[in-house]
Amino acid sequence: MKKDKNDEMYSIPDAPFPIFDTQLSIQENLTQSAQLKIPTPQLPQTQHPHKFFDYTIQHPLGIPACPITGSSAYIRLLAQLGFSVFTHKTIRSFAHPPHPFPHTLPVSYQLLSHLDLHTSVMHSTDQQPTLMNTLALANSIGNSSDMLAASVQGIADSRAALNNNQILIASIYGAATNTRTLVDDWTFLACTVVEAGAHAVEANFSCPNLHDNSPIYCNLDLMQQIIKNITTAINPIPLIIKVGISNNAQQMETMMCAAACAGARGICGINSVSTQILNEHHQPAFGTRTTAGISGAPIFNLAVKWIQHAYYINKKHNLDLTILGTGGITLPEQFDSFFDAGADIAMSGTGTMWDPYLATRYIKRIYNANISTLNTHYRNMYEHPAQ
Ligand SMILES: Cc1cc2nc3c(=O)[nH]c(=O)nc-3n(C[C@H](O)[C@H](O)[C@H](O)COP(=O)(O)O)c2cc1C
Repeated sequence: MKKDKNDEMYSIPDAPFPIFDTQLSIQENLTQSAQLKIPTPQLPQTQHPHKFFDYTIQHPLGIPACPITGSSAYIRLLAQLGFSVFTHKTIRSFAHPPHPFPHTLPVSYQLLSHLDLHTSVMHSTDQQPTLMNTLALANSIGNSSDMLAASVQGIADSRAALNNNQILIASIYGAATNTRTLVDDWTFLACTVVEAGAHAVEANFSCPNLHDNSPIYCNLDLMQQIIKNITTAINPIPLIIKVGISNNAQQMETMMCAAACAGARGICGINSVSTQILNEHHQPAFGTRTTAGISGAPIFNLAVKWIQHAYYINKKHNLDLTILGTGGITLPEQFDSFFDAGADIAMSGTGTMWDPYLATRYIKRIYNANISTLNTHYRNMYEHPAQ
């Protein structure tokens, strides 16, 4: 693979990468994040910050809700490496344990397509990933959450770890409790994270690891009720909805129109893709759980198609939704594929877990490029030394 003069390599060196360990639990990874020490290079500052809702951000590069946005230590580190938009890992209003260990497993690379979404089987592997372009991960967690007071403190600390022109979105997942209905719990959580300092709220309507109900983005009446209640309560703070792939184009169009009409101002896709995962003995790799969510390189094409379609629907119906794209970016140049497809913000979760310098490499590449070759999102954003 071609090497950039700013990068040592795209294959994964022993140290200091990755910043996440599949052999540890999610909680152990979060605890260890406080000890992470990796060099943080100086980055060029853009002269024209980008708009994001009513805020400004330095770079339209972000990290979706995942373990490396689950602690202020992770967020502080990644905020120094070029990312500007962070979606804090999903929280609930009560403590909720993860599914049994393991929580994540490397899987053998296989590109997923729309055609085999409901039939594909992927295989876990003992080999740790060695190449970014085939980085593939399965996760089985189920929106685990700390007690609310600890989660709220984590969000406040993460917000405090950011600089100007960096944004914290808090991801929430509501559930009926003894004292609150399902819709009230979503609204309560949204208000709570805004009070803790979140610049925006993301409603996780699409976790692939919960089997109690079909995802909320497929249940339009319920989705609209939750969006209306949240947006009324947190106005003017924007609400983003996190979705997965729809069964067909019409369903996605109806869903996006319903979400915008109810008051959502942003849409983030795609969540990890639910797939059957077997081990080398052809047994379910996650014990009693036969399916888990796939992220990283296998879902890149699905994510690009989702963004293209979301962009088209947004324009066709004048929905004015901000589009946050995530799914499969593991190489710096792939941020451009998301921008070209129509994303306002391009995000990488799994890729960044193995290469925390993804945004750094992208920004340095742009800064050193001839400005006329830049993606439209970046034209005029940098005062290029040669201009
Ligand atoms: C280990 C792991 C945990 C995740 N946890 C969450 C979560 O708490 N909330 C959520 O909305 N998405 C979660 N996701 C999904 C990501 O936000 C993202 O949608 C998905 O991984 C695809 O993007 P990627 O390929 O860049 O990682 C998680 C993904 C991974 C790999």
